[in-house]
Amino acid sequence: MQRTQALLLDPCILVIFGATGDLARRKLYPALYNLAQDQLLPDRFAVVAVGRQAKSHEDANEDMIESIKAFSRTEYTASAKDQKLLTCFHYFQMDFYDSSGYARLKSLLDAIDQQCKTQGNRVFFLAVAPEHFAPIALELKAHGMAPNRDSWQRVVIEKPFGHDLKSAQELNGVIRSTFAEEQIYRIDHYLGKEMVQNLMVLRFANTLFEPLWNNKYIDHVQITFAETVGVEGRGSYYEKAGALRDMVQNHMLQLLTLIAMEPPVNLDTESIRDEKVKVLRSLRVKPEGVIRGQYGPGVVNDSQVMPYNQEERVDPNTNVETFVALKAHVENFRWAGVPFYMRTGKRMPRKYSEIVISFKKLPGVLYFKDEKLDPNLLVIRVQPDAGIFFKFNAKKPGTEHTIVPVSMDFSESSLAGFNTPEAYERLLYDVMRGESTLFTRWDEVKYAWQFVDQIAKHWRAVNVRAITYPAGSFGPPQADFLIRSDGREWHEY
Ligand code: BG6
Repeated sequence: MQRTQALLLDPCILVIFGATGDLARRKLYPALYNLAQDQLLPDRFAVVAVGRQAKSHEDANEDMIESIKAFSRTEYTASAKDQKLLTCFHYFQMDFYDSSGYARLKSLLDAIDQQCKTQGNRVFFLAVAPEHFAPIALELKAHGMAPNRDSWQRVVIEKPFGHDLKSAQELNGVIRSTFAEEQIYRIDHYLGKEMVQNLMVLRFANTLFEPLWNNKYIDHVQITFAETVGVEGRGSYYEKAGALRDMVQNHMLQLLTLIAMEPPVNLDTESIRDEKVKVLRSLRVKPEGVIRGQYGPGVVNDSQVMPYNQEERVDPNTNVETFVALKAHVENFRWAGVPFYMRTGKRMPRKYSEIVISFKKLPGVLYFKDEKLDPNLLVIRVQPDAGIFFKFNAKKPGTEHTIVPVSMDFSESSLAGFNTPEAYERLLYDVMRGESTLFTRWDEVKYAWQFVDQIAKHWRAVNVRAITYPAGSFGPPQADFLIRSDGREWHEY
């Protein structure tokens, strides 16, 4: 089966800008290794890793193997299949701002085309800091490296795609001057996660859920993305982003669209994206109700950690948020009146991402007239232990008539075995086969920026200070008031 899948892939060269960076080391090389293991790379294939550091080909090869050993989900075994990846790997040193470097790069790619019969097809993966996206795209255009005639060239762009709507529009303008929309793959790595891909199947392939998926039966939805890490040396990036731009604008809103969208007319990329965009256009929030927090000192995983404002490359007087909680509404016929509570933060007690669909309570006519009957909950756990958990009420065995909540638990690993493919494997594979459903279209990015811009604008206008919360907690108490004042509680993982 996998062999057949690989045969469907066009020959191509994957050009990774940012060859020595964190993303390439932690995610891309291990993903390529696992794709090679699963025979999901094109038969005629080459990788050109472009970096600024001077390195011999042997050293670059050695570094790639080290990163595979450190970060791959499967063990590195120097087998014949791995050799395939090594033999097609080239390191190329250049400064992204040296125009002559692009001319040399073009000659190398053309020479590889001759040698490996890769037919001029290219994936340009920009695994670099966002300020380099536009200059690299312009150089690729200037050197005729993305003509998209007789062969295809695609560009993969990591987040953040801009800093606000205006900068995103400018960046998009530059990228679009080199690549057509269909050739642009804007990454949101959450879309590559197994459980996120499962969301549509869960909704649209189950009679049990789809008829209930609306404001008649659903009381509210919660989305929590909690992380234990701090900013991990990314202070200079994070100071410009904060949790609102780093997590809400992309990962959280993408998940929300998949939960709230209408059934698409078919499973084509554009039909699905059209429905996601409609959700973003219907999304409302009261910016003054959004909770902004920043971690102070505290204990996470039994270790004392420093406050955000003492992290490397962070301004000691910073007001950047590491936590956001908000209540939004999707103002359409299906969802009117159903709140979507969202929260995300760094330095929380546990790392997990989950969606909770809380169904409406039944009237207390037969059981629990005092209305204590627990609501049915559908919990979609994105990570860790990806799976679905359904909580419902049943009678406790025995002579007394006691009702207790019980649950059915489905773990993704029980279907797939352990070591399910990492998001980047799926995403790289999809770019190579020209499948862009798991990437974001420009209008999705645009409306997501519009949504967060109104919050950022309000924060600026009235100088909203981030509320300090102890590291190791679930954010400031105001995040609890946000949901409690509606008579609800955050679901405890
Ligand atoms: C990234 C953010 O997009 O997602 C990081 O920039 C965050 O700040 C990360 O830590 C979380 O991803 P995951 O897959 O570990 O949940």
